[in-house]
Amino acid sequence: ELKDNTIIIVLGASGDLAKKKTYPALFGLYRMGFLPKGVHIVGYARTKMDDAEYHKRITAYIKNPNNDPEVSAKLEEFKKLSTYISGGYEDSPSFANLNKHLEKIESSYGVKERNRVFYLALPPSVFIPVGQHLKEQCYVTPDVGKCRIIVEKPFGKDLDSSRELLGALKQHWTEDETFRIDHYLGKEMTKNLLVLRFANVAFNAFWDKNSISNVQITFKEPFGTEGRGGYFDEFGIIRDILQNHLLQVLSILTMERPVSFAAEDIRDEKVKVLRAIPPIERSDTLLGQYVAANGKPGYLDDDTVPHNSVCPTFAATTLWIHNPRWEGVPFILKAGKALNEAKVEVRIQFKDVTKGIFKDISRNELVIRIQPSEAVYLKLNTKTPGLHTRAIPTEMDLTYKRRFAEAAIPEAYESLILDALKGDHSNFVRDDELDVAWKIFTPILHWIDGKNGPAPHPVSYPYGSRGPKELEAFIGKYGFKRTVAEYEWPITNLA
Ligand code: BG6
Repeated sequence: ELKDNTIIIVLGASGDLAKKKTYPALFGLYRMGFLPKGVHIVGYARTKMDDAEYHKRITAYIKNPNNDPEVSAKLEEFKKLSTYISGGYEDSPSFANLNKHLEKIESSYGVKERNRVFYLALPPSVFIPVGQHLKEQCYVTPDVGKCRIIVEKPFGKDLDSSRELLGALKQHWTEDETFRIDHYLGKEMTKNLLVLRFANVAFNAFWDKNSISNVQITFKEPFGTEGRGGYFDEFGIIRDILQNHLLQVLSILTMERPVSFAAEDIRDEKVKVLRAIPPIERSDTLLGQYVAANGKPGYLDDDTVPHNSVCPTFAATTLWIHNPRWEGVPFILKAGKALNEAKVEVRIQFKDVTKGIFKDISRNELVIRIQPSEAVYLKLNTKTPGLHTRAIPTEMDLTYKRRFAEAAIPEAYESLILDALKGDHSNFVRDDELDVAWKIFTPILHWIDGKNGPAPHPVSYPYGSRGPKELEAFIGKYGFKRTVAEYEWPITNLA
């Protein structure tokens, strides 16, 4: 664990990720007293600015709605320990200059030990030179302290480019020093999956092909790619959400029980289950792109997007796991931008009750809502209260806002940065895990990119809708059945 004498260096400090996620998370940790004692934060980017401008930028997304004086006081402290250095990403003198700045801070420690954590909030085009220059100019050797490097997707665009990127970084940074963020692994409900599954005999007993008909892992966002069209068009929804965030959730949902909570034990099991998934078939794929509706622009109306782009902003893909636990169970991963709501959830639908005594009875479903309003609920049938015996669907409901009303749920990035400071890799993506994730998705991505023939045309869906109208039939094909019409789950007012 990195205790004292630590500097956190944010590279790409003037960018979007740093402003929206990294700095708010660093401040959150600082405010709660989780950053190392005497910590310093150094921002680095190309933009020339003074500390005042830098402080303005990094605090732009830090909220203090009630003007809590304690938060304001902490924020002033936070600014004092945050300094900025500008420099290029591809030239070594800039990094030598950064190193001088770091050494100046460290000269006040009065002890030999010094630790540095480099957070790369950067576009992937500069990952490799930055990784190299940091190692050459800003590395502290293990006899003096520890260095860690935190990186974030996109890790390449397919299997080959991912291997190239990883290989290049590995020349300078060991796996142990590297922390690859997938921020869905830092979300409270993703972390809860391990406990729900392995701390409950009751759940564990029905967690297989004998009881489960189909599983959906769904990501919905109510806004389009406004402002990010340039980036998005190069990647598409599969690289943006499915290949990383949803696949990570899937792996924890389906892996066997790890021998312990140790990082390598968990990651070994995740890799093992992912290796049992063959590449996705074209016929198991539905692609969509949103068009203008309700006064909102379509994807192609964005000036930063090529006018004839066939980039999918919605995708549903079905994955199959060839192992004894899951053979034959479809796992439908679906994600879309510009939909009717913001929601991320796992929906496990169980098989029908054996025919004979009930007619038109709903299936059980276990839903794990990752966001908003974290919840776990089990849809089950119960006797209608009163004098007749009829089964109606209802739910056993663990909505966090009700059950854990006082609990503060940390932001994903807070939890992950803290893990990196502690040196815990459990919630970071290992090299071989990334490799196998790309193997699953690379063939359909190449098809979508038009690499081996004409690119498929996504179907269109209106901005603000539930997605392509073809979706219902798509999930129906895998056996999903809707709950009988009268059922309505009354949680929305808590979201
Ligand atoms: C990012 C994607 O990784 O995740 C974005 O690049 C997406 O497109 C975001 O909006 C969603 O994260 P969250 O935490 O808001 O669900």
